[in-house]
Amino acid sequence: MNAMGIDNAFIDRLVETFYGRVLAHPELGPIFDARLSGRWPEHMAKMKSFWSSVAFRSGAYGGKPVQAHVGVANMSPALFPQWLELFAATLDDIAPNAAVKAWFMATAERIATSLTLSLFYNPALDDPARKPA
Ligand code: HEM
Repeated sequence: MNAMGIDNAFIDRLVETFYGRVLAHPELGPIFDARLSGRWPEHMAKMKSFWSSVAFRSGAYGGKPVQAHVGVANMSPALFPQWLELFAATLDDIAPNAAVKAWFMATAERIATSLTLSLFYNPALDDPARKPA
């Protein structure tokens, strides 16, 4: 990670820049702010520890990302591509090189897919016996 140009200073900058843009985003901003009103400093600290944990396999985070998203008001599968697009644009602006962007995007896309499935996938919809709606 260090060889690629990722260190904790970069992670801090990425998290601060990204969530600054999230707040300014017309759809994502209100959803985050409604849930995190009064708790933004804790969220930022958590996200820095999360990314640092994933990047350096440090085990420092230890949270439960799926549970954290349960019950977030107005959450929908369509928001994930928007989140990823904003994350990609942030990395375009501040990542030190293409490998750093590629690593963060691959990781975020994997987690976004996993969160989408955990939050929205309903196995009953794949039941062959299910009658068409
Ligand atoms: C539409 C997309 C997303 C929305 C609207 C969203 C929203 C939120 C909100 C509101 C919280 C704060 C929950 C709370 O503390 O009450 C949160 C926490 C978190 N999110 Fe997301 N999120 C999204 C996508 C993602 C993605 C793609 C990742 C992975 C890179 C991610 C990782 C996390 C993590 C690690 C936390 C902290 C969990 C904890 O409390 O330990 N989120 N998210």
